[in-house]
Amino acid sequence: MKLPVLNAEDFKQRRAKLAKKMGKNSVAIIATRAEMLRNGDADYKYRAESSFYYLTGFAEPEAVAVLSTDNTGKLDYILFCRERNRDMEIWNGYRAGLAGAVEDYHADQAFAITDLDQEILQFIQNKDKLYYRFGKDHAFDHKVTTWCKALYDQHRQGVHAAKSIIPLDSILDEMRVIKSKKELDLMRAAAKISAKAHLYAMQKIRPNMMEYQLEAEINYIFGQYGCVPSYNSIVGGGANGCILHYVENNQALKSGDLVLIDAGCEYQHYAGDITRTFPVNGKFTAEQKAVYEVVLNAELAAIEQVKLGNHYRKPHETTVKILTEGLIDLGLLKGELNELIETEKYRQFFMHGTGHWLGMDVHDVGDYKNDAGEWRAYENNMVVTIEPGLYIAPDDMTVDEKWRGIGIRIEDDIVVRGDNPENMTVDAIKTIADIEYFMAEHTCKS
Ligand code: GLY
Ligand code: MN
Ligand code: MN
Repeated sequence: MKLPVLNAEDFKQRRAKLAKKMGKNSVAIIATRAEMLRNGDADYKYRAESSFYYLTGFAEPEAVAVLSTDNTGKLDYILFCRERNRDMEIWNGYRAGLAGAVEDYHADQAFAITDLDQEILQFIQNKDKLYYRFGKDHAFDHKVTTWCKALYDQHRQGVHAAKSIIPLDSILDEMRVIKSKKELDLMRAAAKISAKAHLYAMQKIRPNMMEYQLEAEINYIFGQYGCVPSYNSIVGGGANGCILHYVENNQALKSGDLVLIDAGCEYQHYAGDITRTFPVNGKFTAEQKAVYEVVLNAELAAIEQVKLGNHYRKPHETTVKILTEGLIDLGLLKGELNELIETEKYRQFFMHGTGHWLGMDVHDVGDYKNDAGEWRAYENNMVVTIEPGLYIAPDDMTVDEKWRGIGIRIEDDIVVRGDNPENMTVDAIKTIADIEYFMAEHTCKS
């Protein structure tokens, strides 16, 4: 598989595009995410903040980017980062340092992160607009307000703080929600590796295996491509498939049950997000088949709605209609279709939305509604997940016993492309015939 990568020029172009949107005599401040302790002295594996990485390509912790435009609109990019330190690098790994920030990451100037408070003031003073997103990190918010106060305090020297403060996300998120050609290539890679992992899980599953063992098979494929899971994988056998965010993954998989796997990898900071549901022993029961067909029909129809001319919510409206019709046909809901939809009776079995934007964040940035409060229209190169499901709780006494504990979700990653949605995760098979055939041919029997 040929794996694409971004280079320093790609990040530079993003900064230039942002600078244009910021306008003249403006400044943006964006910090990466803090490291997080897992236990004792051990951190969680570090992952940069998505928007920071989007603009810098810089994956080290303890870094702040300042993008400053002058009165002509010319951009100055300043990166605050850790200095090189032989002792620290022996313990904790390589650092680009200030020279690396300039040479490898194309910063116009670089400063030590320890000098942030003193050095940043020169770049943020006397600007018309400050772009900063308050509310993500209280400690950093406090720093920004302290810098603003330091500038207010100098007003008798002719220094002023920005006349307006604008959430950076208001322009940056709109850039991120429309993917570039290169970003789509990265997302296709994430999607393909994720799909490969699902197929591998279908091959490796066997009755009485533990859910975490199946999760390990998924992680094995992610690891072969240098990827990590883009979120905690859900591997739920039987009724565990009805728990929407089930991540314990610590039960045995039983013959006769389905397993629901919601797992995707992160490739070069871009996420895949796939759900497949299949029988532990390779054969669907009649009830599982019946519910599965309803979910699959809803999913296929919803994918068709991811196109220009439709608004974001159209696929959800489609899944709600098809799922509710299916629930009536199966005898799980009683009543008239439109009334069951209006009164949201279907929520007994389908209680979540049909998808979300997908990108560097699994639930990616970007507004879902426009300024008028209406669902926004699809635009080319947006990426959205389509993920309907039906979940019949094991203790739901309103339905016949034979249905209880069936949990099914099917999820794919779709690019808006005119009239013709591109399913990036199509390699992960999903029809009943394909799954049963594939598992009969490939699944370990031992
Ligand atoms: N895996 C998270 C989601 O499907 O939204
Ligand atoms: Mn999803
Ligand atoms: Mn998912």
